This record gives sequence, C-alpha cells and structure tokens, in this order.
Amino acid sequence: MKTRNVIFQILGVVCIMLCSCNLPAKDCKDEGVDVVADLAYCHKQVKRTLQLVGNDSCLLPRSINTLSDQWNMTSVYDWTSGFWPGILWYDYESSGDESVKKEAEYYTACLADLLNPEHKGDHDLGFQFFCSFVNAYRITADPYYKQVALAGADKLATFFNPKVGTILSWAHIEKEKGWPHNTIMDNMMNLDLLFWAARNGGNPEYYRMAESHARVTMQHQFRSDYTNYHVAIYDTVSGDFIKGITNQGYSDESCWARGQAWAIYGFTMVYRETRNKEYLRFVEKLAEAYLTRLPADYVPYWDFDAPDVPERPKDVSAAAVCASALLELSSLEDDESMAESYWRSAERMLRALSSDYYRCGERKPAFLLHATGNLPAGYEIDASINYADYYYIEALHRYKILKQSGFCPDK
Ligand code: GLY
Repeated sequence: MKTRNVIFQILGVVCIMLCSCNLPAKDCKDEGVDVVADLAYCHKQVKRTLQLVGNDSCLLPRSINTLSDQWNMTSVYDWTSGFWPGILWYDYESSGDESVKKEAEYYTACLADLLNPEHKGDHDLGFQFFCSFVNAYRITADPYYKQVALAGADKLATFFNPKVGTILSWAHIEKEKGWPHNTIMDNMMNLDLLFWAARNGGNPEYYRMAESHARVTMQHQFRSDYTNYHVAIYDTVSGDFIKGITNQGYSDESCWARGQAWAIYGFTMVYRETRNKEYLRFVEKLAEAYLTRLPADYVPYWDFDAPDVPERPKDVSAAAVCASALLELSSLEDDESMAESYWRSAERMLRALSSDYYRCGERKPAFLLHATGNLPAGYEIDASINYADYYYIEALHRYKILKQSGFCPDK
C-alpha cells in the first residue's frame, strides 16, 4: 500500500512538472503600446519619404524644420548619415517590403565612401557605420557589410588616445576651441561598433578600448547626482582630466537631456558586452537621475535645467533613445522590480511618442515632431530629426522582439 502511495506521489510530481513546462507563456499586461500599428505607421512614413527624396544622389533626409514639410537633405559625411539607412533596415525587417530593402542597400552602400582616406572622420564613424552596415549585416548576413563595418571600426579606433583611455570626439576643434583631448557623452554610443568588431573577427583589442573609454567616462564625466557633463576635456599628453563643460546643453552645470539618454543607452550596452555588475549598478543611477527629472508625459525638455522662458522646447530624440535603452536594460536587469519599472517607463515613453501630439501623421513625412538638435547653435529646434526617428523605430522593434520571445517583466 505504502509503495503504491509513493508511486502515485512520484507520478503526481512528474505530471505537475510536465504540465507546467507546457503552460502558455505568462500573459504580459498590455500597457497600451500597439507595436503593430506603430510599426505600420513608420512604414507608411518611410514610403512617403522615399517617394519624395528619390535615390540617385546619396543625399539623405536629415531633418524637417518646424514650419516646413520638406526634408533638409545631408551628405554621407554628416554625423547623422547612418540613421536613414538604419531606419530603412528596421522598416524592412518589420514590413518585409522588398522595395524598402533595395533602398536600404542603396543608401548603405553610399556610406562606404566614409572609408575614403581623404575623409578624416571622427568619433561619429561609430554612429555612421553601426546604424547602416551593422544593421545590414545583422539582417542579411552578407559578408560585404561585415567587411565594411570592420574597416569602419578600424578607422574609429585611430581616434583612441591610450594616455587618456578614451576616443577623441572632435579633432577639428581641438585647437580651434582650446579643447585638447575632448570626449563627448554621445561618444558612448560609438562603442557599440568597437564591441561588435571585437566579437566579429575584428581586432580583439577593440573590446579593451571600448571598456577603457567607458571606465574613464564613468570616472570623470558625471556629477555626484549622476547627471552628465556633455564634454570632458583631458590633457592630451598627461591624460589628466581637466574639466567638464557643455557644447549643446544650457550651461556647463546643466543636464542636457539627450546627453543623459546617450549615457543610459551607452552604459546599458557596456553592461551587455562586459557583464560587469559595476556598470549595471552605475546605469541604474543614470536612469534614476533621468526618470526623476521627467515631466508628466515622460518626454523631456531639451535640457533638464534650462529655464522655461522665453520657451523651453521638448526633445523627442532623448525620449526615443532612452526608451530603446530602457527596454534593453529591463531585459538585462537582475532585480525583478527594477526590470518591471524600466519596462513600464519605456512603455510610457513609447505611448507618448506615438500620440497625436508627438507624431507627424499627415503633417510631415518623418515619424516624430518636437525634437531639439542644437539649441545653443540655433538650429533644428522643435524639429523632426532622423535620429529621433531611428531610435523610435529601434525601440518599437526591440519591444516587439522582446515580447515575441516571451520576455515579460510583470511581477
Ligand atoms: N551627437 C550629436 C548630438 O547628439 O546632437
């Protein structure tokens, strides 16, 4: 009798184990991000832009001014040149539209000219090659894309100063502005190309370079409240940190919103690549500094500390960059409640960006309105800008893929 009970108990446990393995994935709460509809909207806007810009000149759409509905076009040498091909690759990935793939191939190939030795380039080579060629390679596995992206990483790596331990951002203003070895927060984004190259047959040293850049930036380019200095200036020869200043923010001591978003995205990536918990704990602080300063709709003003007068434009590009970063951070978090809160915050950002107030809709062929490019220099204020659109479609794509994979941070 006893033996029979034990057998029944064992069978019961086995049955529960088998049944639970077959349970459907947890039903994630839907917080109102209609990713299918949002990606369909992006596809519609991409087709509109393609009809308007043609594809015979290697000029790329960059921005649309507040009062206009016409794209300002730019050349492959502009720092934003990777975003348009990147948008096309993400759109092809979600829509499957072969005509978009052809356009993505065309514009991506245009950027190979950045390897021309006559073009010196700067840290932006990371943005340029990663968004275009690395996305192209991820989607097509065509070795041509890999080969060009690896050559792009080689060129980017030439700006690394081993004495300082970071990449020089703007060689052209080293002397002009008296900023010797300058490293801007945006440069954290460009580490993705180096990490990718080190993992894909490029120089393995690039992993060390990227990690060094992140570590030195972590040490010097943040205040005690975890807000960032846009620009760090170092002594080129001794490598010593000299000062933190701004270029695109309101003041040297203010927190430029896109800079903080670049930092959150960049340090999330560094944690993804290194799995060093020090970076995870650090990026949690950066995210807290950003999230606690947000207005009610989760789309920041262009600078968290800029005064309200005479006007204080928003910056959807910071919101899109941060939403994309927080989705990845949520998937990497080791603390369940933080993972859930990052996911929820990213959903609120995406919901806001997809609302009528922030979307171009019929008004313009870009995705989003209300981005601020460079307010101190007086351009692209309250505009539509290609990098806001790029990180918006990337965030939607990440959201879709994570949900499809069963990721669900609900407690
Ligand atoms: N990387 C330049 C900017 O964020 O405006």
